[in-house]
Amino acid sequence: MITIKSAADIEKMDVAGRIVEETLNLMSTLVRPGVTTEELDREAERFIRSRGAVPSFLNYSGYPKSICTSVNEQVVHGIPGSYKLKDGDIISVDVGAYINGFHGDAARTFLIGNVPDEVKELVKVTKECFFEGIKFAKVGYRIGDIGHAIQSYAESHGYGVVRELIGHGIGREMHEEPDVPNYGRPGRGVRLEKGMCIAVEPMINLGTEKVWQLSDGWTIVTQDDKPSAHYENTLVITDGEPRLLTLHEEG
Ligand code: MF3
Ligand code: CO
Repeated sequence: MITIKSAADIEKMDVAGRIVEETLNLMSTLVRPGVTTEELDREAERFIRSRGAVPSFLNYSGYPKSICTSVNEQVVHGIPGSYKLKDGDIISVDVGAYINGFHGDAARTFLIGNVPDEVKELVKVTKECFFEGIKFAKVGYRIGDIGHAIQSYAESHGYGVVRELIGHGIGREMHEEPDVPNYGRPGRGVRLEKGMCIAVEPMINLGTEKVWQLSDGWTIVTQDDKPSAHYENTLVITDGEPRLLTLHEEG
């Protein structure tokens, strides 16, 4: 079932979304060579709880940490641990927060020190994929229009679009209908309606689109070990431009 959010629901989701955004902003100040991914997790959890929210991911289907930290060839769902960030790494940080009955969910990919130009470009284009996609996150379009825009833009740069993991509806549950793939066909899929809330989250690989899951049961990595980037925001479909709930500052 696709839930349509009321104005009151959306204000609650905005609160959750702002906490997610602020957590990611905090992460951007902490990521540097020598920092471990579990230190990022600890600081994120502390911040989310300090704002009266709960980390959405903690204990979700048994997930053991509060955020996901996916380094280099890790696509998503990397589990924070003793790994120390080093110069030249990229790290995708995915954050969810739950407060007043609603979730917010967003991800950013950060550069650590001197990252090769072709990897910097991947990170930049992945963010651009999100903005290409949400040109169609409007009444009058369908889910397939968003996915098609993301896929076309990524593939025009020669990148691989991950198929196994997709965006999603969001609200009282972190994962609601509809599915929001990063690929698709124009004019296909669910019609977008005012009050739908979705998380659009391109996961884009420098090389092959193919991925594996590690034996930890969570971490998704590229099959060719080339880097992957992730960029996600939670948004509301409105009468006009989509309202981003996890991105209020900066465009
Ligand atoms: N943002 C991710 C998603 O949409 C995070 C889920 S991680 C999990 O699926 F641990 F909570 F599963
Ligand atoms: Co998500």
